[in-house]
Amino acid sequence: MAPSAAISSILLLLALLHPAAATARHRHRLGASLLAASLNASEPPTTFFEVDRPIRPPRGSAGPCSTLLLSGTFGATYGRPPATAAYAPPACLAAARAASAGGGGLALAVLEWTAVCRGRQFDRIFGVWLSGAELLRSCTAEPRPNGILWSVSRDVTRYAALLAEPGEVAVYLGNLVDKTYTGVYHANLTLHLYFHAAPPPQPQQQQMADLIVPISRNLPLNDGQWFAIQNATDVQSKKLAIPSNTYRAVLEVFVSFHSNDEFWYTNPPNDYIQANNLSNVPGNGAFREVVARVDGEVVGAVWPFTVIYTGGVNPLLWRPITGIGSFNLPTYDIDITPFLGKLLDGKEHDFGFGVTNALDVWYIDANLHLWLDHNSEKTTGSLLSYDAAGLDLNVNSEFNGLDGQFVTSASRHVSATGWVKSSYGEVTTTFYQRFRYENSNVFRKNGTVQIVNQTIDAKSGIFAKDATTVLLSEELHKIFPLYLYTGTTDKVGDEYSLDSLVKLGINEKKTSGGKMGFLYSSLQNAQSARGIMRVKKNLVVSGLGKTHQVYKYVGTDGCYFRDVSSRNYTVLFDRSGDSCSKGAYSRASTKLNNQSARRKLLVNKL
Ligand SMILES: *[C@@H]1O[C@H](CO)[C@@H](O)[C@H](O)[C@H]1NC(C)=O
Ligand SMILES: *[C@@H]1O[C@H](CO)[C@@H](O)[C@H](O)[C@H]1NC(C)=O
Ligand SMILES: *[C@@H]1O[C@H](CO)[C@@H](O)[C@H](O)[C@H]1NC(C)=O
Ligand SMILES: *[C@@H]1O[C@H](CO)[C@@H](O)[C@H](O)[C@H]1NC(C)=O
Ligand SMILES: *[C@@H]1O[C@H](CO)[C@@H](O)[C@H](O)[C@H]1NC(C)=O
Ligand SMILES: *[C@@H]1O[C@H](CO)[C@@H](O)[C@H](O)[C@H]1NC(C)=O
Ligand SMILES: *[C@@H]1O[C@H](CO)[C@@H](O)[C@H](O)[C@H]1NC(C)=O
Ligand SMILES: *[C@@H]1O[C@H](CO)[C@@H](O)[C@H](O)[C@H]1NC(C)=O
Repeated sequence: MAPSAAISSILLLLALLHPAAATARHRHRLGASLLAASLNASEPPTTFFEVDRPIRPPRGSAGPCSTLLLSGTFGATYGRPPATAAYAPPACLAAARAASAGGGGLALAVLEWTAVCRGRQFDRIFGVWLSGAELLRSCTAEPRPNGILWSVSRDVTRYAALLAEPGEVAVYLGNLVDKTYTGVYHANLTLHLYFHAAPPPQPQQQQMADLIVPISRNLPLNDGQWFAIQNATDVQSKKLAIPSNTYRAVLEVFVSFHSNDEFWYTNPPNDYIQANNLSNVPGNGAFREVVARVDGEVVGAVWPFTVIYTGGVNPLLWRPITGIGSFNLPTYDIDITPFLGKLLDGKEHDFGFGVTNALDVWYIDANLHLWLDHNSEKTTGSLLSYDAAGLDLNVNSEFNGLDGQFVTSASRHVSATGWVKSSYGEVTTTFYQRFRYENSNVFRKNGTVQIVNQTIDAKSGIFAKDATTVLLSEELHKIFPLYLYTGTTDKVGDEYSLDSLVKLGINEKKTSGGKMGFLYSSLQNAQSARGIMRVKKNLVVSGLGKTHQVYKYVGTDGCYFRDVSSRNYTVLFDRSGDSCSKGAYSRASTKLNNQSARRKLLVNKL
């Protein structure tokens, strides 16, 4: 985004918070009076965290071998070039690769971001890239006068090919500092590597691509390397040629939404806005999707999880437990192997992204993971079938003045089958996606109360077989429930109170079978947060926030459970465990065994 757009997005933010806007906007800061009244600046800093399962090195692996990649200070960085540092593969990685010819011996790679900040500051989005490929999309925590600290870890093992080559690390965190917003972020980026003691098992090698091609903007830039999608017709793309001996290709998409679309799922349709002269309220309804295209043809879509950043709705809700996905935004895989046939001609092809009904602004880029045939210079392929009927979107609107109800439903289906012939055989791959979306948006009490109830249901699968064997059969089912209540009361001049209730979650089930063995996982991750705050201008002058989160993960790779609750910066209770056999998960693990038996049967039958 150009620097001028940066300014306008800040101004817009202020405009949205104008008390005349009947639809309460949901982005606020902690105010000076709250901070002064409630905090002794010499108290120890507060540690923020996102609840997630720990990343465990495989049993028997050696490490970590840790390398500081970049140490950065982010003050007046908005619209400036990213912080960069030359990357050289750590000596331990080079040594391990030499010792285990070709395989790399890498068992696990973890990228860790740690940061501190003090003062007052907005929640800022940032990205971390290695040689143009994004490794982490994240949002900063909002600081306090006594200081805050937090860290984020992401498993980056799948980028092994990238980590093995020299390159450049870039971090863009657009921050602005002035008399009011004083917080400067100081951050370190560290790479932790673990290695197999014995030669690596074959299946794991196949999970890692041989080449990662970034679909992002090249440096130098006065911005992040992401594409900025600004409206519904904007399609941003990159032309690139892939090696002619590719036999598998997966597009990994990074996405975050900001400014007018930060709360896209709360946006009313344009006709409501026009009828009520609400020129400062973003519209175009509550449905959004990212559509990925190759040479103009739809290859898949992303129906994104509704990440709420650390200043969202009521900032007091996200301290110290941050919103699901806000420190480590989810990425989305689209398998484009069925389309390889037309991409293996050595010529450039166009990889593009658009957002249905987008308002300014969506940050999107992708990494193209490619698997190469080590025994031949040329693979061949062809698409056998392709079905991508357009989006089915229905809006039922009813309103009278500022009160009304908007019920939106949508669905989409994409599926493609194609074969690729390499020295490993002739493999036929099917990839499909099936999406459903329901959103109810209700405005009451002359538009001062808004209730959003939304569910996104996304299913996808990959099925690959050669003449005799099922190589891979994978299914991923994600459900994202969201409930959001906001009520504005006691409006006096530029002051008002906001009452809010947020429930959001990720329910995810994944099964995979085939040559790589059987894997299963189930995640239920739910937050329920309630708060009230008094806002003057755009500063929170008083308030409270309570958040409860339950995280349950059961998988063939282990289990994790956490039940944690906080209120006004204080953790009330925090229970966690990693046993698969105790109490809370015994039922789930019984189901796992059953499901496991069923899937095994299914895979054998195919
Ligand atoms: C501020 O906190 C420090 C450390 O907890 C304490 O020693 C000091 O007395 C406190 N000051 C005030 C004014 O409360
Ligand atoms: C970054 O690393 C330096 C050097 O090890 C250390 O002094 C500093 O405290 C670290 N900063 C953060 C935010 O972890
Ligand atoms: C949409 O955004 C693109 C890229 O910024 C711009 O060129 C185009 O004019 C915009 N279209 C509309 C209708 O605003
Ligand atoms: C919106 O503005 C138009 C023109 O200024 C005016 O005629 C109309 O009454 C206004 N509607 C409302 C609901 O305020
Ligand atoms: C509803 O809100 C509008 C805009 O804030 C205001 O002009 C109008 O008087 C309100 N109506 C009632 C019945 O309170
Ligand atoms: C949200 O809508 C679903 C049906 O679409 C319903 O089952 C659920 O009870 C609603 N949630 C709330 C809190 O109203
Ligand atoms: C939470 O903190 C706010 C601001 O310091 C304060 O006004 C409120 O009384 C606190 N609430 C509780 C329940 O401690
Ligand atoms: C499979 O599930 C059923 C019902 O959930 C249960 O009664 C049965 O004991 C389970 N079987 C195994 C082998 O766990």
